[in-house]
Amino acid sequence: MNDFSDVDRSGRAAELVEHLDHVDRALRAPGGPKERLRAHLALAPGSRVLDLGCGAGHELVQLERDGLCAFGVDASATMLAASRARLAGLGHPARLVRADAQHLPFADRQFDGCRIERVLQHVASPAAVLAGAHRVLRPGGLIAVLEPDWASLTLVSQDAEAARAVADEAGGHIPHRDIGRHLRRLLADAGFVDVRVDVELMVYGSVEDLSRMVSLEHVVDRACAAGRIEHSRGVALLREQRSLSKSGAFHATIHRSVLAWARRP
Ligand SMILES: C[S@@+](CC[C@H](N)C(=O)[O-])C[C@H]1O[C@@H](n2cnc3c(N)ncnc32)[C@H](O)[C@@H]1O
Repeated sequence: MNDFSDVDRSGRAAELVEHLDHVDRALRAPGGPKERLRAHLALAPGSRVLDLGCGAGHELVQLERDGLCAFGVDASATMLAASRARLAGLGHPARLVRADAQHLPFADRQFDGCRIERVLQHVASPAAVLAGAHRVLRPGGLIAVLEPDWASLTLVSQDAEAARAVADEAGGHIPHRDIGRHLRRLLADAGFVDVRVDVELMVYGSVEDLSRMVSLEHVVDRACAAGRIEHSRGVALLREQRSLSKSGAFHATIHRSVLAWARRP
């Protein structure tokens, strides 16, 4: 179980809301993944758009500013309270529904668009979420999805085997850590057409820089605890990576955001 799969029972709900603030700032930069995802939804003002797993409501505010009629769904009462607070002052009650995205409580063909950001990685069945999204979209309705691909982490090391073992632990606590690379297939399987995929490749030049996405210390610890590498090799790798970082020779990459968008026929 991972904290974002059940925020209210994680014991860290307030911390997770705060975490979403940080991530939102990173992804909302002009030309960044959030803006690009919005461009792919291309909905006319007044359109009804669903934000599945809306979290603390960061994007709901933006959708409303764009003149859309935004509905937020989330499984967490804490997240919905944060959304409600963020949406206060809209001039109309926020349209928020507490529900499991795998079992949407909406009639068929209700929405013109649907966005899903960093949610499918945390649910038991991403396919069930996309099947529901397909059902509640009208024919011609648009869907846009943003998920990371934690399994795409690369590190450069003299001990390539240890680097691979450690990279294999990135996002290891997340149910679908490599969801990004499956979005095209999942959308097609759910019945969507004109599926397009784009990837944001991040390049990190220091251990500190990388830590905004992945804590090297954590993944090394986990790789050792899981028996993927001996403790001494983990320690050596960490020492090497810190040294590379200090000398300006550190190099790590990850597909931070995989964007996929499609149409309901
Ligand atoms: C990483 S957060 C992303 C939130 C938001 N989309 C964003 O980008 O800021 C994941 C969100 O998905 C919600 N979530 C997880 N499983 C869910 C489910 N089965 N149904 C609805 N929401 C779910 C969590 O409560 C959390 O708010």
